[in-house]
Amino acid sequence: MTQSLYERLGGVEAVNAAVDIFYRKMLLDDRVNYFFAGVDMTQQIQKQKSFLTMVFGGPHHYSGKNMRDGHRHLVKMGLNDTHVDIVIEHLGNTLKELGVKDADIAEVAAIANSVRDDVLDR
Ligand code: HEM
Repeated sequence: MTQSLYERLGGVEAVNAAVDIFYRKMLLDDRVNYFFAGVDMTQQIQKQKSFLTMVFGGPHHYSGKNMRDGHRHLVKMGLNDTHVDIVIEHLGNTLKELGVKDADIAEVAAIANSVRDDVLDR
């Protein structure tokens, strides 16, 4: 039986831990944290846990916006490729710290890259 990426990462606990650590890094990073000013981070973290669980092949409980609608107002604030690269960098470092192997980190990065054009509304 082949495991899904979600299972290989360690399932619900691993994804939840990763998202918590990831947003800690994002909020400490002045290159990106201003996008989150005024955002309810408890809700945001919950949405991201559901979204990543879904795209990693786990259970589908995501009921938030699609990536284009969810980020269009940020594109108007100047969201660009550099910011997406920073997200992928923090996500990769988070997973590395949690002991995820490089091949799985590369797969996560590829998934994040696959929504890049939607996130950037192009
Ligand atoms: C690269 C892949 C990305 C994924 C998979 C992703 C995922 C998500 C998800 C699931 C939401 C919730 C949508 C909703 O409100 O229903 C969201 C919102 C948001 N994202 Fe992203 N995102 C990505 C890139 C980025 C980048 C590069 C930034 C900024 C540096 C960013 C900043 C935000 C902010 C600030 C919100 C909240 C907007 C609001 O509530 O006003 N995202 N994202």
